[in-house]
Amino acid sequence: MSSTFGSAFRVTTWGESHGSSVGCVLDGCPAGLEISRDEIQRQLDRRRPGQSKLTTPRGELDSVEILSGVFEGKTIGTPIGLLVYNKDTDSSKYEEIRNKPRPGHADYTWKQKFGHYDWRGGGRASARETIGRVAAGAIAQKMLEAVGIKILAYTTRIGPVTCPSPDPFDPELAERIESNLVRTADLEIAEKMVEAITNARKDKDSVGGVIEVVATGVPIGLGEPVFEKLDAAIAHAMMSIPATKGVEIGGGFPICSLRGSQTNDIWELDDDGAMRTRTNNAGGILGGISSGMPIVARIGFKPVSSIPRSQETVDISKMEPTNIEVKGRHDPCVLPRAVPIVECMLALVLADHAIIQGIVPRSFAKE
Ligand SMILES: Cc1cc2nc3c(=O)[nH]c(=O)nc-3n(C[C@H](O)[C@H](O)[C@H](O)COP(=O)(O)O)c2cc1C
Repeated sequence: MSSTFGSAFRVTTWGESHGSSVGCVLDGCPAGLEISRDEIQRQLDRRRPGQSKLTTPRGELDSVEILSGVFEGKTIGTPIGLLVYNKDTDSSKYEEIRNKPRPGHADYTWKQKFGHYDWRGGGRASARETIGRVAAGAIAQKMLEAVGIKILAYTTRIGPVTCPSPDPFDPELAERIESNLVRTADLEIAEKMVEAITNARKDKDSVGGVIEVVATGVPIGLGEPVFEKLDAAIAHAMMSIPATKGVEIGGGFPICSLRGSQTNDIWELDDDGAMRTRTNNAGGILGGISSGMPIVARIGFKPVSSIPRSQETVDISKMEPTNIEVKGRHDPCVLPRAVPIVECMLALVLADHAIIQGIVPRSFAKE
């Protein structure tokens, strides 16, 4: 089983949905980086359940404790332990799925592979596992900001409702994204997206969508061809988030039906005589190496599988067809809560490659 991500900047997450706690150990973070509990908590608050009428009502504050690796407000270069206790677990509704695997969820594959596993609340397959990623990713984001790299994600699709990609350099973008429940860039479209989720919930159903993430300020040179190309690392990171079904870099699938003359990013010189490309269909990555242009990726999320309507399945204790109506508290759409997870996974990838490339100092501490 694999619970560790990254090589130079490594995070190991632990914990199950209805176990005592979830969290992570982050190893490889340079010393001297200023980081507060509140900065980590801020990202966790954006991920936490119960944050709005559109998310699961599970009542968790997801309050983080820093166990190690930080002294007097700065990292000390040793493993950073981060812990969040699970407070609002109700496993009673999950008894049924022990023998009736939910369509679209991980129940049957986990049972067949491991035999003995924690089925309560989806166990380790639950999105509660991503708390460790977000806590570590918040530190990665802080480290990247110290070397001029900023990451921002936002929803561009919920069901049939789409929002065009915004200008990533718009100074008000981050505030606008955070001012609406679905974390999208356009406030009018946000209302339609909210309606799409509300309608799905009313219909005892769920809805999927797409999140776009952009990293600006990434210097040329990040990425290790051939198997650790930057785009490969991003795809790996994003596809490990629960419920993801696809990753596109830059122009993605739509440019695959065009011609090279329409899609090549032309090299040119900017006002300071520096190389740049006129367009960014490559999404900031050429040959697996960052090009100096913004890194752009889009991640597709499926509709949540746990829906409170009757669906067919098999009772595997009797090997007989049966029906299941999934109980428990579930998100009708993962997108609003997945935005910080996507940001943090990109931060973990870029932090790892920034350290490997040597653009992050061994210590931020000033002598
Ligand atoms: C933020 C977030 C919240 C989620 N909430 C739920 C949920 O409430 N109910 C559910 O069935 N799946 C939820 N999921 C998705 C499941 O964890 C996921 O579909 C399941 O583990 C099976 O994995 P797979 O879809 O990647 O194959 C959520 C995913 C994310 C990213």
